[in-house]
Amino acid sequence: MEMLEEQRENWGSRGGFVLAAIGSAVGLGNLWRFPYELYGHGGGAFLIPYIIAVFVVGLPMLIMEFSLGHFTQRAAPDAFAHGHKRFEFVGWWSTILGFVIISFYAVVLAYCFSFLWFSFKGILAGGELPWAAEGVEGVKKAEEFFLNTYLGHTPGTALGSIRWNIFWPLLVTWLVMYLCICRGVKLVGKIVWLTVPLPWLMLLILTVRGLTLPGSIGGLAYYLNPSWPELAKATTWRFAFGQAFFSLSLAFGGVMITYASFLHRKSDLNNNAAVICLADFGTSFVAGLAIFSTLGGMAFVTAQAGRGVAVNEVVRGGAGLAFIVFPYALAQLPYSAWWSFVFFFTLVTLGIDSGFSITESVLAAVVDKTGWKRNVVLPIMSVLGIAAGLVFITKGGLNWLEVVGNFIDGTWGIAFLGLAECIVLGWLWRIDTLRTHANERSDWTLGRWWNYAIRVVIPIVLGTIFFWSLFEDLNQTGGFLLDTEGNWILADCVGLTIVAAAPILAIGISLIKSPLRAGQYPPRPDVKNSNLCGGRFGGLAAFCLAIASAVMLAVLVLKPGISDKFRSYFLFQSLPIALMAIITSNYIIDKHTGDYSFPSWPARWAGIIATLDISAFIAVTLITVTQKATTGQAIHPAPEHLSATSYLILGVMLLLIIGGLGWCFYRAVAAAGKNTAVQPQPDA
Ligand code: PHE
Repeated sequence: MEMLEEQRENWGSRGGFVLAAIGSAVGLGNLWRFPYELYGHGGGAFLIPYIIAVFVVGLPMLIMEFSLGHFTQRAAPDAFAHGHKRFEFVGWWSTILGFVIISFYAVVLAYCFSFLWFSFKGILAGGELPWAAEGVEGVKKAEEFFLNTYLGHTPGTALGSIRWNIFWPLLVTWLVMYLCICRGVKLVGKIVWLTVPLPWLMLLILTVRGLTLPGSIGGLAYYLNPSWPELAKATTWRFAFGQAFFSLSLAFGGVMITYASFLHRKSDLNNNAAVICLADFGTSFVAGLAIFSTLGGMAFVTAQAGRGVAVNEVVRGGAGLAFIVFPYALAQLPYSAWWSFVFFFTLVTLGIDSGFSITESVLAAVVDKTGWKRNVVLPIMSVLGIAAGLVFITKGGLNWLEVVGNFIDGTWGIAFLGLAECIVLGWLWRIDTLRTHANERSDWTLGRWWNYAIRVVIPIVLGTIFFWSLFEDLNQTGGFLLDTEGNWILADCVGLTIVAAAPILAIGISLIKSPLRAGQYPPRPDVKNSNLCGGRFGGLAAFCLAIASAVMLAVLVLKPGISDKFRSYFLFQSLPIALMAIITSNYIIDKHTGDYSFPSWPARWAGIIATLDISAFIAVTLITVTQKATTGQAIHPAPEHLSATSYLILGVMLLLIIGGLGWCFYRAVAAAGKNTAVQPQPDA
């Protein structure tokens, strides 16, 4: 099924690709965000939604992105355009969000470079870190150092002047990323042999050290002791999914589509995707062990000295964890400057390959569309990226960094984009083509269940989270968009505008005619011939059912005044009707998708609408069931020691990671032995 004659540059080896994809996935998100998200959303209980997000939704989608990129040999926009010109905007949408992400991701990397430099100076100064002070004082000092001395931070939405002390490291960040990717992916495939194992080694060192500190287990209790009621909140699920998508570099930026497009024609896809999910999950989990055991060690030391600081007094999210709490904790322990150096070096090497993966995929999107030269587009893009980053290096920059980041990962970014990808590829395109493509060259094969996972299960899960958090957002006590006094909330407005502008801009870009595409793809079967369209009546019937179910749910949500009898009647009628629509629609699609036939449009749209109906149904039910659960971010109560459940969780997770990777390895070796999947040779 080779479709393109043209020779595209490639990674050179399977290892190069796998490492590059892992390099993209494993980044600041693992060390900087995951441990805190877990701590803040139910401890060990958070692992349930997170594992569902990574393995039930993330893995099938990763395989989908890989096989789309590999099949079309194009970066995201052109890859989607290959299905139909009209789908191109989905690719641009993710590319635009990718550009927004890199503009702030580079700023966080710049912080890391700065702190690396401070630690280095600390080593030269005989081990004294600039933020070091004893006990509770030390927390204040570390906070003051980061927020005042370094960021010159002002709270609120005002931007204020640019901080030049962050500008220079930002320049360094972009320069390093530029140098890594300017020579094409072959060089990237080599660089990642350094930027992936090195931070792992460092992380291992940090973990071993953390776990061997006295008091470390007490720290782990904060990390792992589960708080089950958190699972009843939409925010927990939303953060789990947001974190999983961000961490796997899924959907945003189309990174994985682009990376797979450079992969050797005969290379495995499925097993690689599984390895990447496991490696990313494993890194996050171990990073949490490193962080929390060190915090436990810190609490122990300060308690011994009679100036006790408990873990939950200092731990905080986002930038605070990496640049306040952890530097503080390190400063309390022996050889602090050296450890601080190791920590920030780990962050820099972790982040840099994630950073350039986004730049690379935005670059590839532009190059594929316009045919312009890489070495012209890349410098222009880097300058634009720095310019966009200026917003985040102003005095109020940190606030905006958080706002934009939260919006993109939150309800509005991922759920929408992930949903759009699955809908376009699952219902409107021929998902089975991608499955066959992936199976033809992989160490293990996907069953038909995968089609239904992409078409039905994942959209329902993402849709549910979208509706559920939407209802929760709208019922927020502080108000959403408008505060309780009726004033606009600027941060919400800007965040929403960026998220809403992305698809609109994307549609605009996709309308621009590309000089390249004409004649490059083999002609598609003549699907316009209406004689070949199947399941028109059935499709129409299913469509009516889907709409009926949607109307019932809309009445339920929009008219809270209706009587309870009607409510429950509508609620429980909407489900079977939607299910009927889905089953009919799936049947028609499977029956009529062939080389020269296609399912009718009402049948496809019936399926799409019905999956959303089911999502809305589940969300409405959940909202009713969990209404009593309190909203807001509750941190679970201070634990004394690691509970038996936590030990169990720890064991199961390690088993999952090690066992999973072992299984992937075994399948790869077995496949190589049987020679069913042809291993890539370095290009001939
Ligand atoms: N996955 C990266 C991390 O965990 C960030 C990233 C997001 C990279 C989106 C590419 C695309 O840090």
